[in-house]
Amino acid sequence: MSIDLTEETITAEVQKTFDGAVDERTREIFVKLVQHLQDFTREVRLTGEEWFTAVDFLERVGRLSSPTRQEFVLLSDILGLSVLVDQINHGEGSATDSTLLGPFYVEGRPHAENGADISGGVPGMPLFFTGRVLDSAGEPVAGAHVDTWHSDGEGFYNVQQADKLHGELAMRALLSTGGDGRFSFRSIVPRYYPVPTDGPCGEILRAARRSPMRPEHIHFRFHAPGHEPLVTMLFRRGDPYLERDAVFGVKRSLVADFVPHEAGETAPDGTPMTEPFQTVSWVFTLERG
Ligand code: BEZ
Ligand code: FE
Repeated sequence: MSIDLTEETITAEVQKTFDGAVDERTREIFVKLVQHLQDFTREVRLTGEEWFTAVDFLERVGRLSSPTRQEFVLLSDILGLSVLVDQINHGEGSATDSTLLGPFYVEGRPHAENGADISGGVPGMPLFFTGRVLDSAGEPVAGAHVDTWHSDGEGFYNVQQADKLHGELAMRALLSTGGDGRFSFRSIVPRYYPVPTDGPCGEILRAARRSPMRPEHIHFRFHAPGHEPLVTMLFRRGDPYLERDAVFGVKRSLVADFVPHEAGETAPDGTPMTEPFQTVSWVFTLERG
């Protein structure tokens, strides 16, 4: 009977309406969603005003969201949902640990040759990255697609500063591994940064008196035929925010040495350097699949 519903009877009544769902998984997800959402509402004794605040909040998150300002992704990130989903789906195995994608990945990125400077001319301390992609048996993965993206030395991604010299293509690229699984690029040293706090998600962080900071990192996304895709990032050892990432994404296995070098030393690509620079090398492992 769907009339005269009470606090006690409404949950089962709503759940029953999913009995005819298009498939069992859809039914399961909605039945559990209704259960937890309604249990939550009863538990906190949600007021009408709080419900309205929540609806208004989600509406504002939606209005702000776009391909370059993914406020909904950020909401999932600051609530730990993105990392939880990643953990459930890539928890164990011999591959490099994965972590969240974040809101600054964009599809429109230039293809770059190995060794290319992908900084887009953004000023900063030079960084030389050399990577190798192996499979779980230790064999090189040739022709793997490697997406990489990172912030500038002030902690901003190019998509956050489209009006400045940070052109659309700066500090991000799509590379391919060579026959030996190796890839490399030159860019600039990134920096720790706050997640965007000028939208609705910032209100949550301020209300909770939470730090918005993420430790310094470089993002990677790998695709190779015959292998499981991998989304991950490398964090700088010694970063002050490693243990209090605003989006819970740090894993010990992903902390790398960003090795400092003096002016006068030679870069990994053979360039004699007249200014200080850093180098990072890493071996990534993809699961066969
Ligand atoms: C990022 O690492 O790009 C990122 C991840 C989650 C929230 C904000 C930024
Ligand atoms: Fe990032």
